[in-house]
Amino acid sequence: MAIRNLLTRKTLATSPLGMLGFRSLKTFSLPDLPYDYGALEPAISGEIMQLHHQKHHQTYITNYNKALEQLDDAMSKGDASTVVKLQSAIKFNGGGHVNHSIFWKNLAPIREGGGEPPKGSLGWAIDNNFGSLETLIQKMNAEGAALQGSGWVVSSLWLGVDKELKHLVVESTGNQDPLVTKGPSLIPLLGIDVWEHAYYLQYKNVKPDYLKNIWKVMNWKYASDVYDKECPES
Ligand SMILES: [Fe+2]
Repeated sequence: MAIRNLLTRKTLATSPLGMLGFRSLKTFSLPDLPYDYGALEPAISGEIMQLHHQKHHQTYITNYNKALEQLDDAMSKGDASTVVKLQSAIKFNGGGHVNHSIFWKNLAPIREGGGEPPKGSLGWAIDNNFGSLETLIQKMNAEGAALQGSGWVVSSLWLGVDKELKHLVVESTGNQDPLVTKGPSLIPLLGIDVWEHAYYLQYKNVKPDYLKNIWKVMNWKYASDVYDKECPES
């Protein structure tokens, strides 16, 4: 994840010299996409990708950095009330940054292997856990479609692995919560952004078509690499 350093000037009250000191607050910047905006067409339009990346993801980062700077200031002043108040903004905007950074890597142009089914140990694990890749895709698509209009605002569908129990899970999260909020040992392999900003310009209200087509540009190579790293064969 890209990090830039923001120097913040702070008084070192305990400094024997009583000098002003400098401490580094780490903030975040927008990561580049690993492909051109139009490279996922026709599954996802270049217009959507550009807006999603440059506007939506950037806004999460801007607001995350702002909240982190306010947190740093509140902590230096011992302002407990403000520290608590900032937690929701940090979780929402930080989660948005984390989730989108994964989402871009979950996709790949068809000419670069997008949509090619997983091979190796992840392919076997999917067959063992769900019966087949097709069954897994149907399960995730049904979960995404069923949440429409239910009042539960889902932001992401996930395929993850429980690295303690060594099995795959399908989960959904809302409000930009990362998968780890569903369990501390859950590692995301694939996350599908199902907020309207991810598809509405192209698919309007037909979210099932977006969910059907996104698998054509799914980067299973990335998911397999994460799976092999988290669950090495013993
Ligand atoms: Fe998004």
